[in-house]
Order: sequence, then C-alpha cells, then structure tokens
Amino acid sequence: MSVRDILKMGDPRLLRVAEPVQTFDTGELHALIADMRDTMAAVHGAGLAAPQIGVNVQLVIFGSTARNPRYPDRPQVPPTVLINPVITPLGMEEEEDWEGCLSVPGLRGVVPRWSRIRYTGLDEWGQPIDRTVAGFHARVVQHECDHLTGHLYPMRIRDFSRFGYTEVLFPDIGALEDD
Ligand code: NI
Repeated sequence: MSVRDILKMGDPRLLRVAEPVQTFDTGELHALIADMRDTMAAVHGAGLAAPQIGVNVQLVIFGSTARNPRYPDRPQVPPTVLINPVITPLGMEEEEDWEGCLSVPGLRGVVPRWSRIRYTGLDEWGQPIDRTVAGFHARVVQHECDHLTGHLYPMRIRDFSRFGYTEVLFPDIGALEDD
C-alpha cells in the first residue's frame, strides 16, 4: 500500500473516458483500492477516482467513518468502493453547493448537481450496489463519477463569480487544507 501522486488539472490523463473493470476480487484490484484509500486519507479527500492517480478504469472511492476536516459541516457518507457506476437522476431538480477537487488544489467553486439520484455499480468483489441518495451524498457521487468521463468540476460551473481560492473564500477551512 502506498500514497500515490494525484494528477492535476491540465494533465491530459484526466480528460480520458475510463475503461470498465472486467475482473473482480483480484490482487491487482484490491491493491489499487488500498493505494487509493491511502492516497485519499493522506490528503483528507471526500472521494477519489482511479483516473486521478493515472489508472484509467471506472473505479471511485468516497465516504468515510469520520468527519472530514475539508468539509467539516457536511453529513457523513458511508465508505464506498463503486465500480462501473451508472447514475440516474431522479427528477429534474438541481441544487448548487461548493466543491473542491484534489486535482484542482486550492480552489473551490459552486457547482450545480442533480438533487436526487439512483446509482448502481459493483463493489471490489463484484457484488451489486444500488442506492437512492440526495444532497451531499448525491453530489459526491456525481463529482467522482464525472472523473470517469474526463470531467472536472470547473467544467460544470455556470457562475464563475463563485469560483476562487479556498484560503480567500473560506479562511477557516483554508487553514486545514493540505492542497
Ligand atoms: Ni475531484
């Protein structure tokens, strides 16, 4: 297990469409997930997608059992490994909230997302995942899965007057930032 380098915006590897995972419960897959967990924990991420460490497969991890110092006032999301995900919006309602990204260090922006979604996929053993979620949980899933189609959150921003440096926008949280 090891902490891997996180690619930053501008790296063309973040713009690729990821390949589906074909085989489950393999040593290679478990090792990748262990590295992703270590990497996410080291930088207090809310989630991480495999393409962010240069591995072009449809795999994201998100959630935690503890409060995230980068998002101290957000509800907790269960720790999840989600592979080959499919997101279906439930209704047309959207909501806006602040997002950051480990591949876009030091910045935050207000991003519109579907308020309620159903997401399906598989875990690392190939067992199905099927959840209906809303709010912050739905936002995290949409953000992470966007990485699997080459989308970074700034590409989703509609109002660039609400995009800026974390240390300026949120001085208290900025002090806790690793990025
Ligand atoms: Ni991200």
